[in-house]
Amino acid sequence: MVTDLKTERLLLRRFRAADWLDLYRYLSDEAVVRYEPYETYTEKECRREAAARAKDRCFIAVCLREDGGPMVGNLYFAPREYETWELGFVFAARFQRKGYAYESARALIDAAFSCGTVRRIVAVCNPLNTASWRLLERLGLRREGHLRQNVWYKRDRQGRPLWQDTYEYALLREEWEASGARAGCPEAGFSTESG
Ligand SMILES: CC(C)(COP(=O)(O)OP(=O)(O)OC[C@H]1O[C@@H](n2cnc3c(N)ncnc32)[C@H](O)[C@@H]1OP(=O)(O)O)[C@@H](O)C(=O)NCCC(=O)NCCS
Repeated sequence: MVTDLKTERLLLRRFRAADWLDLYRYLSDEAVVRYEPYETYTEKECRREAAARAKDRCFIAVCLREDGGPMVGNLYFAPREYETWELGFVFAARFQRKGYAYESARALIDAAFSCGTVRRIVAVCNPLNTASWRLLERLGLRREGHLRQNVWYKRDRQGRPLWQDTYEYALLREEWEASGARAGCPEAGFSTESG
């Protein structure tokens, strides 16, 4: 789990209850949550969500190191079975396409494979979410599956489930090593300890 992990432009840290406003700025944006399994959040829900995330080490706040350190988005990194961890990311629209998502996820992946007992990193996304799977591929994850209409999160106007496909992606530690990725093991960075 991440404590403080610094990259050239960013600080990856645990959530704080005070992050609710930055969180609200992007979770209230329909374009940002379009492919997420939830709808837009209200201000009140974001206050509650930020407080909950402050106690949940799987959510990682990604903040600028300059300009007063606003939170530009968040990563999600959660343990699954068999030394496998699931990666997710959500960034505010005005901070997208600036390389922040890549820079933060790259640092997290490098720290996780270097420092922890992480053997396999997986991620899923909707095939229509091009920005998401392009990012996963830039990070070195391989597409392992294309599931057809396996899930739905939202309904249409008639109340019918909107079935959607899922791409499954993964990266093994040995693939990460073979790719010559830079080991990242900062003193305060990542550990698989919980709590
Ligand atoms: C998915 C998501 C995190 C991808 O973020 P992103 O902003 O596209 O990713 P990056 O910040 O790494 O930027 C990627 C693009 O910016 C470009 N870019 C611009 N300036 C850059 C810089 N200084 N450094 C690196 N890349 C830069 C990259 O070349 C890349 O372009 P390309 O895709 O044409 O190659 C973002 O679209 C998002 O938060 N979406 C809403 C939530 C969501 O759907 N999450 C995923 C659910 S599965």
